Parts: sequence; C-alpha cells; structure tokens
Amino acid sequence: MLKHIEAAIEALNYPQRPKGLYEPIRYILAGGGKRLRPMLLLTAYSLYREDYVRALSAAVGIEMYHNHTLVHDDVMDRADMRRGRETVHQKWDDNTAILSGDTMLLLAYKLISSTGIGRWHEALRLFTNSAIEICEGQQYDVDFEKDTHVTEAEYIEMIRLKTSVLLGCATKMGALLADAPADDCDALYSFAEKVGLAFQLQDDYLDAFGDPAVFGKKIGGDILCGKKTFLVHAATAQMTPEEAQTFLQKLSTPVGDSSGLYSTETEKISDIMAVYTRYNVAERCQQRIAAYFDEAEGELPRLSVDATPLRDYAFSLLNRNK
Ligand code: IPE
Ligand code: IPE
Ligand code: MG
Ligand code: MG
Ligand code: MG
Repeated sequence: MLKHIEAAIEALNYPQRPKGLYEPIRYILAGGGKRLRPMLLLTAYSLYREDYVRALSAAVGIEMYHNHTLVHDDVMDRADMRRGRETVHQKWDDNTAILSGDTMLLLAYKLISSTGIGRWHEALRLFTNSAIEICEGQQYDVDFEKDTHVTEAEYIEMIRLKTSVLLGCATKMGALLADAPADDCDALYSFAEKVGLAFQLQDDYLDAFGDPAVFGKKIGGDILCGKKTFLVHAATAQMTPEEAQTFLQKLSTPVGDSSGLYSTETEKISDIMAVYTRYNVAERCQQRIAAYFDEAEGELPRLSVDATPLRDYAFSLLNRNK
C-alpha cells in the first residue's frame, strides 16, 4: 500500500514552468514523510473493498493537502528544517512558500474531486470543512504563543482542530469512497480524531525529547516559539499559579529580546528542558498518549467490519521516533 502511494506521488505530472512554482512542490513531496494520512484513507477503504487503487488519487490529494499545510506551517513556526532537509521558505523564500503552498491546496482539490467513486461528493464536502477547521486550529496555535492563560482544554481543542481533524477526514474519506455505512463512517472519524490527539502529543514530546538525528525537525523548536504544548500543561498543572505564571512568562520570552533573559537559543532550550525534567512531563505525556489510544480503540467495536488492520496501523504510529 505504501509503495502504491509513493509511486503515485512520484508519478504526479507537474507543468515544467514556472519552475519557481512547481519545483518546491516536487521538493517537499519528495522529502519523504510517513504518508500517514493516505495510509489511513486507503486502510479504511480496504476494510470495505479490495480495489484500493481506485482511491489512490484521493489518497495522494490528502497527502498533497497535508504538505501544503506543512509549507505554510513552517513559515508560521519559523522552522528551518523538516524531514531532515531545509524547509521550503528556508531553501527559497516566504513568497515561494505562500504561492507554491497555495497551489498545493488547489492541486489537492483537483486530485480529490477527480476520484469519482463512492460518495465522493460527500467526501469533498468533508474535506472543505476540515480544511477550514485546520486553519482555525493553526490560528489558535499561533495566538497561544503569546498567551500565558491557555487552559489544557483549550490546548486539546486546538490540537483537535489543527491535527486530529485531518486524520479524521482522511479515514472517513476512505470509508465514504468505499460506500461504507454512515454509522461506520462516523465511528471511523471518531477513532481517527482520538488517534490524532495521541499523535500530536507524541509530536510535542518528540519536539523536546526526540533524537535530532532521527526526528528531522529542530529539537526545541516549540520551546523557541513559546508554543503551549502538552508538555507545558503537564508541567504547569503541578505548579502553584504564581510558579506557573513565572514559567509561562519565561517560555513566552523570545531569545535576544530587550529583557536580556535569554541571549542564545541553547540557553532558553536548556532552561525550559530543566523544568520539563523536574516535573517528569515525558512520562505524563506518554500516559496521556496511551489513554487517548484506548479511547480511540473504544470506537472500533461499533463498526460493522473487523478493523484490526486499521487499529494495528494506527498503533504502530504511537511509538514512533519521527
Ligand atoms: C507533521 O505531520 C504535522 C503534525 C500534525 C504533527 P507528520 O508527523 O505526519 O509529518 P510527515 O508527513 O510524516 O513528515
Ligand atoms: C502542525 O503542528 C499542524 C499542521 C501543520 C496543520 P506542528 O507545527 O506541531 O507540526 P510540525 O511539528 O511543525 O510538523
Ligand atoms: Mg505549527
Ligand atoms: Mg510546525
Ligand atoms: Mg510539532
């Protein structure tokens, strides 16, 4: 299945010109990645029908869309590295990231709407609504950088929007294209939504505790941006309100600003990491990941089919290192 996805991405035919528009698209898509969303789509489809190659264009469309969000996300997060390579805005510039990124969104629509199988109209509606929700999540994520009063519930809703919604969309889309029963489609969405929460928690964890040689992104990137990740909530939940405010103010202080608190990136990262270690946030994060996965699994008995392949695939993601 993964081979089919890779081959279909490789076979995408872009116009030769303008080079400045299409080369970055080819570059980001050739950079690897887990191809998680197309895998979810095709695995869900395969629970109902054998001919999953018929859903490949939608699967590639979802991956195209995901990569569109990454190109824009890396501008918003000032990230220089992704999948072990320079990000698009770093290799080219912000204008390239904006326009090539926009084009990828539209190419995603073209691919998904060309599928023409099962309930593809409904799938397209789901995709449009999901893409809007993801923008909402990304806006909250950026807003929260400068906010020292974000609650855990607000954080969870933010990651549901920015990350879970796309996993839900991809999985449900697979079922819709296979013409699965409506109740199954909804249960699959709920399953993937909960897997998505676990998945984003693992991403937050790896951003601080990952192996720089494997993760492919800069370790400590979230700390430098003052992101209110799960790790932040796991730490502040154990502090007095005063301690929490002091810590959150430090987290929100940019390196090299006029306060003089942090003069180098390494200083800020090690200062915040020391707090994470003191409060044992890594373990708390892993416990919550396991709890969300259990919740996700709880959705599967509602299905009219045996969802073991989907369950096993999703489970394999949770102990990932990148
Ligand atoms: C990164 O997604 C963005 C998040 C929602 C955490 P992935 O971790 O799926 O990135 P790739 O596609 O495998 O590189
Ligand atoms: C990204 O969240 C979610 C979207 C791209 C919509 P992150 O900002 O945590 O993703 P990474 O860590 O850069 O991949
Ligand atoms: Mg981001
Ligand atoms: Mg990011
Ligand atoms: Mg991240």
